[in-house]
Amino acid sequence: DGFWAVVPAAGSGKRMGADKPKQYLTLAGIPLIAQTLNNILSWPRLAGIVVAIAADDTEFQKLPQASNPKVHTVAGGKERADSVLAALDYLSGVAAPDTTVLVHDAARPLVKPADIEKLLAAAPTALLAQPASDTIKQATSAEGQARVKHTLPREEIWLAQTPQKAPLELLRKCLRRGMSKSPALITDEASALELAGYQPELVAACRSNFKVTHPADLILAEALLQYQSE
Ligand code: C5P
Repeated sequence: DGFWAVVPAAGSGKRMGADKPKQYLTLAGIPLIAQTLNNILSWPRLAGIVVAIAADDTEFQKLPQASNPKVHTVAGGKERADSVLAALDYLSGVAAPDTTVLVHDAARPLVKPADIEKLLAAAPTALLAQPASDTIKQATSAEGQARVKHTLPREEIWLAQTPQKAPLELLRKCLRRGMSKSPALITDEASALELAGYQPELVAACRSNFKVTHPADLILAEALLQYQSE
């Protein structure tokens, strides 16, 4: 009665500006994706992980985690959602239709096991998220300048993180429909569920679960890993 994790790791990580995909940059001497997989492998009741890697990836198989019997790989796709769908198609062949799936970014190594427990205990469709601490402005563009259109009510704003949870076949159906109808709107799993009329539960998570995106994030993540291991 375990659950599965899906890890999209087929992106190029362009915003990092490094010479290799960001998931292979090292944090405390260990590649980012290996840190994330070690974290996931520690979750109780985990049945397995499907990692979507780029078709031309030459790094993944060198990781010690690649030979863990719980770790499976598939070739990713053009967009993040295509990579997730490739992993769900694989899972469809090995897991029951209502199996709980947690989709988690390779670039979020610092998610807390206590937040995973909260997510597993939440509604069938749910995601980790952080209540906004900054005031959020909706922008409009005027003569090439970004201008404030209006301010969003802060108490209603949450920043979506991962993992995002849903039953296997429901998520597969919603992502597939979402990507064929309005691909630009599908930037996470919850957005595909929303388009199909579901209201995933928002589970407040620790801020340390940020997505390593820019060079300074690597430094912060390394410092937090160091701090946690003391
Ligand atoms: O680019 P971004 O940081 O939003 O990517 C989030 C996650 O999705 C990363 O782990 C990235 O490797 C993955 N991804 C993917 N396939 C793509 C694009 C992104 O698996 N085509």
